[in-house]
Amino acid sequence: MCGIVGYAGHRQAADVVIEGLRRLEYRGYDSAGIAVVEDGKLRSAKRAGKLVNLVEALAEGAPLPGRVGVGHTRWATHGPPTDPNAHPHTDCNGHLAVVHNGIIENFAALRAEAAAAGHELASDTDTEVVAHLLEAEMAAADADGTQLARPGSLAEAMRRVCRRLEGAFTLVAVDIRDPGAVVGARRNSPLVIGCGEGENFLASDVAAFIAYTRRAVELGQDQVAEIRADGVTVTGFDGVPARVTGYRVDWDVSAAEKAGYEYFMLKEIAEQPRAIADTLLGRIGADGNLTLDEMRLPADELREIDKIVVVACGTAYHAGMIAKYAIEHWCRIPCEVELASEFRYRDPILTRSTLVIAISQSGETMDTLMAVRHAREQRSRVLAICNVNGSSIPRECDAVLYTRAGPEIAVASTKAFLTQLVGCYLVALYLAQLRGTKYGDEARDVVSQLAQMPNAVDVVLETMEPVRALARELASEGCVLFLGRHVGFPVALEGALKLKELAYMHAEGFAAGELKHGPIALIEGGLPVVVVVPSPGGREVLHDKIVSNIQEIRARGARVIVIAEEGDHEVKPYADTLIEVPHVPTLLQPLVTTVPLQVFACELATAKGHDVDQPRNLAKSVTVE
Ligand code: F6R
Repeated sequence: MCGIVGYAGHRQAADVVIEGLRRLEYRGYDSAGIAVVEDGKLRSAKRAGKLVNLVEALAEGAPLPGRVGVGHTRWATHGPPTDPNAHPHTDCNGHLAVVHNGIIENFAALRAEAAAAGHELASDTDTEVVAHLLEAEMAAADADGTQLARPGSLAEAMRRVCRRLEGAFTLVAVDIRDPGAVVGARRNSPLVIGCGEGENFLASDVAAFIAYTRRAVELGQDQVAEIRADGVTVTGFDGVPARVTGYRVDWDVSAAEKAGYEYFMLKEIAEQPRAIADTLLGRIGADGNLTLDEMRLPADELREIDKIVVVACGTAYHAGMIAKYAIEHWCRIPCEVELASEFRYRDPILTRSTLVIAISQSGETMDTLMAVRHAREQRSRVLAICNVNGSSIPRECDAVLYTRAGPEIAVASTKAFLTQLVGCYLVALYLAQLRGTKYGDEARDVVSQLAQMPNAVDVVLETMEPVRALARELASEGCVLFLGRHVGFPVALEGALKLKELAYMHAEGFAAGELKHGPIALIEGGLPVVVVVPSPGGREVLHDKIVSNIQEIRARGARVIVIAEEGDHEVKPYADTLIEVPHVPTLLQPLVTTVPLQVFACELATAKGHDVDQPRNLAKSVTVE
């Protein structure tokens, strides 16, 4: 949440910062702002609303020259999305500007202290107190009042301020008294350094600078980075120089472009076959055995595991729900799935032989990160299934399996979800392979079928026109329900989540068997109900039961939209609309049944005139609890 960019180099900072913000806008779009330093002057501009408002304001105003600058795109926490609450925030004298991602939990006390010391606070934000704390530190360092440039003074002021802050924060600041420097700090929120030739960058995500350099360094917990055109210095909050390791970003700028699609979401849905294939690449041997040595969890330890707990949020949580079916069936290890935001607060029972699996696309979700820390404090082994290399969650876990979806920019998760599922299947099948399993033949068969999944998803994508037509037809409905059984239940939840977040429509997912325990009261004439039907060739009993559930809702007048396997003649007569998907093994079905629901939500939201890449009130990478 909130996108941050800092630049020091040979280009016009304003151009680099605005371009970076454009690439980070998925992280928040309540307001945007920029500040640059040039010739002893700080110039800034900020506007409520999307980045385009700031760009228009800049086009109308005086140019912002300068080779050092910061920018911010906001997801509001403290204070509504207004111009005054937009970042950057400045000190009383307009000498420095700061941008922030996260929440400063002790801000009320610090704000009272700043006000008592005579500082003028112009916004409702927690961030502004940092500007005034920096102001006080810079003034203390400038005891003779000459305001001479002192390289390093801003970094030192930042370290002193950070030691007083509680909560989660990424901060990036510039100051006219240390004019060549951009200083960043991080605790619990992401900040990456981009290392270029004669220029350096700070950003919430590599996407902001990938057009200029692929060399990156992830700033560690409680560290401060000072970038200048000709160098980078990193220390702890205590001032001790820190050892950092860089990496090379393995995708290029075209992966973060729309490539002719109207929305990133459409592109990302279309990329799913490739994303699945990449996630499988090199992990299934020619002999059908899985090789996941990269996870760095010794086989002996994996054999000793007696419980698995999956923690995740939102769409990733739905992937975790599906993982539970796979893990318990193939590995015969008890598995719990928990919303990461609830996990640590209920004092879960974890031991050294518990494996905790944290699923996260961004690797930065604060709820999941906190769950990981809690699990590690209890000495459990923690494995991340993550899409972003070097992000906080995998860095803090014992082991990691990277999904290879590539950058996911649309706020609503699509390709990350399918690759999270693939990651979960791989882990479950690998554990089954290591430990031996009751369903050994089935597991081996599924491993070979996994390789067919990119094709299966491709087939689904090619047959989506009727789904799009249906979505347009239903755009004026007030509510849609989703039903499923077994792995179809989390798929139903995912279908409902997509519709809520994109179409702002009331949508609920239910376990079909639960219908009669209450939700059936919602059914009335014409209500669209999407039913995810299990394969008739998988567990027949499941198929028969859901056909009965369909009868129950039809009898009450529902408009039944069925997602079923091709050739399922039994369910066909009861479907007002039938969406067919290819036959795949039961546990892998979510890979094909979710896709029509993604397309449905995307098209319906578009028909309602919504921006599907940037749905209201949301942001990607939820870095607050
Ligand atoms: C919904 C969606 C969110 C994320 C959730 C977790 O479409 O994208 O529900 O799945 O915020 O995010 P990650 O996977 O980054 O931890």
